[in-house]
Amino acid sequence: MNIIFFGPPGAGKGTQAKIIEEKYGLKQLSTGDMLREEMANKTELGLKMKSLIDEGKLVPDEIVIEMIAAHVNSDECSKGVIFDGFPRTIAQAEALEKMLADCNKKIDHVIELKVDDNLLDARIEKRAKEEGRSDDNIETLKKRLAQYRSYSADVLPYYKAKNMHTEIDGMKTIDEVTAQIIKILE
Ligand code: AP5
Ligand code: MG
Repeated sequence: MNIIFFGPPGAGKGTQAKIIEEKYGLKQLSTGDMLREEMANKTELGLKMKSLIDEGKLVPDEIVIEMIAAHVNSDECSKGVIFDGFPRTIAQAEALEKMLADCNKKIDHVIELKVDDNLLDARIEKRAKEEGRSDDNIETLKKRLAQYRSYSADVLPYYKAKNMHTEIDGMKTIDEVTAQIIKILE
């Protein structure tokens, strides 16, 4: 089973991915986490991408596509993948479809976590204290939200047209959000 979690910054994609990963033996692939690891290790790529990420901009398609391609057909992904924060563009969505199809796999569900903007501020502020992400401040959050509005207007219709998209209420408690996801998967 391969699932995409789609939603704005702070929607709960990572939180839910970790819960669902455990429950179903799937593998979470988060392009955001991979990029933060590159930055933490001060690799050439990480240093190059830092300014884009801190500005709340998308990194180039070919970089994230390559990151996903390096993992998606590995043994640890054999039971399926939860794509967290990928794809964010049509080019990424098409590349994903192709790399899965090459191994007779497909996306089963695209789950959109809907959360009002006013709730996201508080969540990001809380996480800023817990994790210290360099893009977790109100100024960058505004830019990330603007990006989200722009790219979701491309990507969501793409999956809606394929009847793969389901929307859930991401404003409920973490357990209640998990329950909505399980209902879709079972
Ligand atoms: P990425 O790391 O993907 O960030 P994001 O999409 O902005 O999402 P977040 O990780 O901020 O939110 P989340 O939905 O995972 O929320 P979480 O579960 O942590 O991307 C970062 C950057 O990398 C991008 O801006 C871009 O520059 C680049 N990038 C990444 N992927 C890319 C791609 N494909 N293409 C191009 N560029 C890319 O929850 C947040 C907080 O809320 C936590 O504290 C959590 O405990 C709390 N919380 C969660 N759920 C609930 C709940 N139900 N109730 C109360 N609190 C909750
Ligand atoms: Mg996340």
